[in-house]
Order: sequence, then C-alpha cells, then structure tokens
Amino acid sequence: MTQTSTEKKVFIKTWGCQMNVYDSTRMQDALEADGYTNTDDITDADLVLLNTCHIREKAAEKVYSNLGRIRALKNKRAGTNRPMTIGVTGCVAQAEGKEILRREKAVDLVVGPQTYHRLPEIVSKAKNEGRQVDTEYAVEDKFEYIPLATKKQVQARGVTSFLTVQEGCDKFCTFCVVPYTRGAEVSRPHSQIIEEAKSLVDAGVREITLLGQNVNAWHGLGPKGTEMRLGELLYDLAEVDGLKRLRYVTSHPKDMDDGLINAHRDLNVLMPYLHLPVQAGSDKILKSMNRSHTAAEYVDIIKRVREARPDIAISGDMIVGFPGETDDDFEATMEIVRQTNYASCYSFKYSIRPGTPGAELTDQIDEDVKSERLQRLQALLFEQQQAFNAGCIGKTIDVLLEKTGREAEQLIGRSPWLQSVVVPSHCGTIGDTVTVKIIDKNTNSLIAEAV
Ligand code: SAH
Ligand code: SF4
Ligand code: F3S
Repeated sequence: MTQTSTEKKVFIKTWGCQMNVYDSTRMQDALEADGYTNTDDITDADLVLLNTCHIREKAAEKVYSNLGRIRALKNKRAGTNRPMTIGVTGCVAQAEGKEILRREKAVDLVVGPQTYHRLPEIVSKAKNEGRQVDTEYAVEDKFEYIPLATKKQVQARGVTSFLTVQEGCDKFCTFCVVPYTRGAEVSRPHSQIIEEAKSLVDAGVREITLLGQNVNAWHGLGPKGTEMRLGELLYDLAEVDGLKRLRYVTSHPKDMDDGLINAHRDLNVLMPYLHLPVQAGSDKILKSMNRSHTAAEYVDIIKRVREARPDIAISGDMIVGFPGETDDDFEATMEIVRQTNYASCYSFKYSIRPGTPGAELTDQIDEDVKSERLQRLQALLFEQQQAFNAGCIGKTIDVLLEKTGREAEQLIGRSPWLQSVVVPSHCGTIGDTVTVKIIDKNTNSLIAEAV
C-alpha cells in the first residue's frame, strides 16, 4: 500500500497501572490532532512509543529488552522514505531520563508523564534536531492542551473508560517510586472532569473508572465555589445523563472519609467495589513502610464501608518480604487477609527500588523466604476469591456487556463486583446493562443465562 506523506501511524505499547493505560489513550489523542492514526502493527508504525512502568525491578527491565528488538525494526527502515522514530514515555522515562539515551542508541525521545501533551512538538524536534529528553514537572496543566478524544477514538476503545481525576502522591511509602515518578498530588478541576465525562458518555461510554494514585485524595472547588472531596464529586458525576456505572481506583486508607463511604450508601451508579490496599498486617511493618495507619484502623474502615454498603466487594494489594518482616509479621498479614475476606487482591514480593528509603534498610529478606510467603498468601487469596465467586451462583445480577466472547453467541461483560461474566448473546448488545442469572463459574469468570 502506498502512503501519502501526511499519513503517519503511531504504535503504543503500555505497561503498568490503569493510569498508564489512560495516558496512552491521551497520547493518541494529542498525536491524532497532529495527523497520527493508531496502529496495532508495530512494523507499520512511523512512531513507536513504549509507555513504561517503574514500580518493580522486573517492570523496568522489560523496557530495555523490548528496545533491543525494536532497534532491529528501526534499522531495517533506515534510509527508506519512512524512518521509524522511537520514544520512551511513562515512569521509567521519568526515573531514568537521559540514562535511557545512553543505554539504547535507537531511542529518539524520552518524555515523562507530566509533559506528554508536548509530544507532537517533541517528535518533530527529534526528527529535525536530534534526540530529545523532556522529564520536567510541567507548570502548565497537560490536560488543557490535549483535545478531548474524538467520538471515533472513544468508540474504538469500547463502552468503559478510565478518567484521571488526580495524579501524583504525597504519601511516600518507603517501598514506592510513585512519588518520584508522578510527582506531588494534584487534582484536576471539577469542571474539566465533568466535561470529559460528558463527552465520553456522549460518544457511547457507559462506565467510567476515575483514576488517581490516591484517587480519594481528590479535592477541588465545586460549581458553587465550595471545597469538595471525592465523595461529593461522585454525586455530581452520578447526574451525568446516560452514565450507568462509576468506579474509582486506587484509594488510600488515610483519605477514606465519611463522605466517600456515604456515597457508597446513596448512589446506585457507584458500583459496590472498593480497592483499598493495606500492604501488610503487622503494625511494625506498616510503620516502617510509612503507611500512616494501623492494621486495626484499616479493619475498622472496612467495617464501616460494609455497614454503608453490605454487598460491597473489597480488593487490595499486599507486599510480602518487606525488610525486617519476621514470621510473626507475616502471620499478621495472613490474619488481616482473613479478617478482610477479599473478593480479589494483588500480592507482590517486595522489590528493592533504588532511591527509596526501603532500599537503605539493612534487614532485607531472602528471595526464597519471600517466595514461600508469597505462595502461602496467594493460596489464601485464591481461596477467598473462589469462595466469593461461588457465592454468586444462583443470584440474579446486572451485567454491563463489553465485548464479544471467544466463542460464537457469547458476550463478555462485568458484574457490579468487577467479575468477568459470560452471557448468551441473545440477552443484549454491547453497551447494554442486562439482568441475568449466574449458573456456574470458571476459575476467572462467571457463567450466566437469560432470566
Ligand atoms: N497508589 C496505589 C498503587 C501503587 S502501585 C496505592 O497506594 O495503593 C501498586 C502496588 O504495587 C502497590 O499497592 C504495592 O502493593 C505494589 N508495590 C509498590 N512498590 C512496590 C515494591 N517496591 N515492591 C513490591 N511491590 C510494590
Ligand atoms: Fe506508592 Fe504509597 Fe503513594 Fe501508593 S500511597 S503511590 S504505595 S507511595
Ligand atoms: Fe507503574 Fe508508574 Fe503506574 S510506576 S504502577 S506506571 S504510576
């Protein structure tokens, strides 16, 4: 196929959290305004962007192995009328900056999470003037510079969407790189959030998940000029005509206020699901992690949330093998998991991150001890998740249909508790919320029939 000189294609590979997924879509939006269309075929791309994650050592390493392979593609295109430009964005870009250019000669540009609105300009500079690095914490608000996604873009992405409302972190947990890669806590303005939500729903989105590294630290001035917190923002978003479901992730126990808990009691569109990481169950370890709450305080928050919304599913994140973790400390983690009874929970071995206070601690835990603890923890979490899913069998529930299934005459949707549900296709079409009966389950999904 011949290409005219104005047609340009971008391929983006994304690692890490939901915010990186959202950022990749916003980079597409910024580049689309500059004449780029998306492609899923890396060999057909003029611009390749790796949107990276720095959270654990393994995540960061993947960038360099991928770059090695992409360099070969770039070399093949050298000297043709379609040279390939390669960029690294996201949290590894922020953390390692110029070091990436030094380690990998094929990289043309490095852009951090705060300045990707400048991508069109940086890409053209990289082509004309040579390699570029932009990892400053921009003073301007990037979202003011990126056009809202076009209807066509939104529709290509499906009936659910992320929407960043808050970015950055001031909590400085001693294991975590996020305060360094994403900077200080910043909230997007109320009006900007409502406008983006309306535009998404107008294009066909039915479920919005609000994002923030500490999403429940969101605050801002409401339309009447009064200070609001996340709970109140949810009431306003619930009014957006056509929006069927609202979720938010990730919350910190310290910011779990009564207003937010009450929103779970009052709002039907707010799904009965709360991702509230605790990380560990021992107060000694929580203190050393600088989590600024105790195990008992966490258990009390969960109790109050369940009083407000009895059917709420709780999910979380756990770290095993933080420096100084004894067998007793680990047992306390197992105990808080038993008390909380998670519908789902992520769990990780502690990964030393250079530059964080945790990396300086002397009593690091052996890898094999970490592995053994992780295995025990994951067995318990798996048991809880399977019990939660089994408890849904026989229930009649609402499912938002999101995509076609692997087999003919199947659609895949989500339950209110974020489980994947397989639904017979005659029950509805993508974008509908249908009422179905759960009759069975697999390891990772529920099976429904028409009622
Ligand atoms: N802002 C969110 C998510 C942070 S990153 C929060 O505060 O919960 C997602 C998860 O990765 C964390 O909750 C934590 O469980 C895990 N994580 C972060 N740093 C880690 C490290 N150094 N080693 C292992 N897991 C880590
Ligand atoms: Fe990292 Fe802690 Fe901030 Fe979450 S609250 S992003 S774990 S420093
Ligand atoms: Fe990773 Fe950055 Fe998200 S480090 S988890 S992509 S905030």
